[in-house]
Amino acid sequence: MASLICAVPRTREALLYSILLSSRFINNPTPKLKSFSIQLSIVPQPHRHCPCSSSSSSNGGGVVVVSVGKEEGQLLRSPQLVALEYSDLNLSHNFSQDLGHVRIRQHVNPLCASLSVPAPVPDWSEVYRDSTLPLMVDIGSGSGRFLMWLAKRNLDSKNYLGLEIRKKLVKRAEHWVNELALRNIHFMFANATVSFKQLISTYPGPLMLVSILCPDPHFKKKYHKRRVLQKPLVEFIVDSLMPRGQVLLNISMICKTGHIC
Ligand SMILES: C[S@@+](CC[C@H](N)C(=O)[O-])C[C@H]1O[C@@H](n2cnc3c(N)ncnc32)[C@H](O)[C@@H]1O
Repeated sequence: MASLICAVPRTREALLYSILLSSRFINNPTPKLKSFSIQLSIVPQPHRHCPCSSSSSSNGGGVVVVSVGKEEGQLLRSPQLVALEYSDLNLSHNFSQDLGHVRIRQHVNPLCASLSVPAPVPDWSEVYRDSTLPLMVDIGSGSGRFLMWLAKRNLDSKNYLGLEIRKKLVKRAEHWVNELALRNIHFMFANATVSFKQLISTYPGPLMLVSILCPDPHFKKKYHKRRVLQKPLVEFIVDSLMPRGQVLLNISMICKTGHIC
């Protein structure tokens, strides 16, 4: 048994969000995961404290645990699960020395001077084979594998843009995109909070979907301004989406006050 853990309050709404996270494992597992049994359970987290609220979250805090196991005693850790989920991409791990050491935990301060200016707008017609196709943008794309997985399945119908503030992750994603020879996906080193508007205003096609998956929560109140989801960005997303456009949001926690943490 192994666990993929996503912290959520024990409300029905929040549970739905975390089921969204796990739904790819449950509803559409890769062939390699099909023979595994999958269980969802909620474990209370009495000590988890949400800084937006004056009280501790013992009134509703908890973690949803997705357990995946084949036989008693067999353990799969969540990074292994994620690797299995994307195994059909066949991504290589032979990088140059520079790319090989991507430290996943390293955080970047989005308020530093160099990240406070919008990223340069690329020539979209050079970036995509057909730059008029509907666009999906993943804000904080991390490793980028989720977008690559989608791009490979929608080669001629959609374009994909990953915005990521950690340069090394972007370089590694670009390396993988070249390997996969995909012409409908692009990754940019950018602070999405300050770059999204300019990038999307210049894209020739419609904005179809914006995903924000597990944004860094920045729990401490003094760091809330580092969160990627700031009001002007949310307003711009709402204004720019095409009719029937969608937002895919996967968050770790909604506190009592309704804040996304
Ligand atoms: C917790 S990770 C989630 C990564 C990915 N979405 C996933 O679900 O696996 C949050 C990501 O957002 C990125 N990020 C944080 N602030 C950002 C910003 N202002 N602009 C772009 N990316 C940002 C981080 O570098 C990190 O890769």
